[in-house]
Amino acid sequence: MPVILWLFFIFPLISPAYGDTLISVEAPSYVGYEGCAMCHRDQYADWQKSKHAKAFELLKPGIRVSAKKKANLDPDKDYTGSLKCLKCHSTGYRESGGFVNVGETPTRAGVGCEMCHGPGSEYRKIHKQKHTGFSHEEAGAAGQLYGSTDTGVCARCHGHEDMPLKPEMDEKYVFVLEDRLKNTRAYHQHYR
Ligand code: HEC
Ligand code: HEC
Ligand code: HEC
Ligand code: HEC
Repeated sequence: MPVILWLFFIFPLISPAYGDTLISVEAPSYVGYEGCAMCHRDQYADWQKSKHAKAFELLKPGIRVSAKKKANLDPDKDYTGSLKCLKCHSTGYRESGGFVNVGETPTRAGVGCEMCHGPGSEYRKIHKQKHTGFSHEEAGAAGQLYGSTDTGVCARCHGHEDMPLKPEMDEKYVFVLEDRLKNTRAYHQHYR
């Protein structure tokens, strides 16, 4: 059969007209807070003032000197390019759309929305199209995470074995999810 006829048969099967309620799900990538802020203004305004947003600053020399000394880190060293720190102090380090370095990706410095909610390129399409009419399963399949119910989300950083500030060094580093979730000043208040 000539190629042109094959296309005639196959094209309707792959054309989006075949499922207008179906949102195609590709591998999710990071879009940065600027890809969320226009729709979630309140959470964005809170987050900007929060400790997570500023977590990249902690890698600079002269910041939190006593905590660094306690963990045997050099307080005069610049850790802002350090492999050993960036996966927990930036957004999507070494992943598609994520942090590369401050010069190239300044908006991925610090712990952004997507470190708690998952890389957003795909699930935000669902938010846009369906508003509240989507399930957690559907959003989850598109990469969305739920830190309040999935204990693994915060634990990729808090209490992880690669964290230099060990719970054994200071009680304040012990992570109890229910307690930390109450500290909405550290991320954002809940608006619904
Ligand atoms: C085009 C607008 C739009 C964009 C862009 C957008 N969202 Fe949403 N989002 C919504 C709407 C509408 C809802 C449903 C109403 C609500 O919860 O505020 C929602 C819901 C949510 C929820 C609650 C989901 C649930 O299952 O209860 C979270 C968390 C969220 N968005 C995070 C994000 C993050 C993080 C980004 C950026 C990666 C983002 N959104 C981008 C419009 C958007
Ligand atoms: C596995 C994730 C992870 C890695 C890797 C990591 N951190 Fe952190 N860091 C955290 C978390 C989580 C906290 C917040 C702990 C808390 O307050 O409970 C934190 C807090 C800090 C603080 C503030 C401590 C205080 O008490 O004020 C400093 C400073 C810091 N980190 C520096 C670094 C440096 C420098 C590196 C690299 C050598 C690094 N971190 C690597 C997760 C990590
Ligand atoms: C990508 C790594 C990362 C993830 C994921 C993460 N955090 Fe954090 N968190 C940090 C870092 C780094 C700090 C330290 C900020 C500082 O000391 O200034 C921090 C600080 C905090 C603080 C403030 C502690 C204080 O002393 O005031 C709270 C509360 C907190 N996180 C709760 C959470 C919760 C709840 C989750 C999951 C929903 C979460 N974090 C997910 C990295 C992370
Ligand atoms: C430290 C983790 C953390 C960060 C950072 C964070 N959030 Fe959340 N957010 C949560 C948790 C936990 C919930 C409760 C629902 C869940 O488990 O996902 C939530 C809920 C939400 C909701 C549902 C409505 C509401 O107000 O509770 C929206 C929308 C949202 N976040 C948007 C954002 C946006 C936009 C950013 C960045 C500007 C952001 N979040 C940054 C942890 C975080």
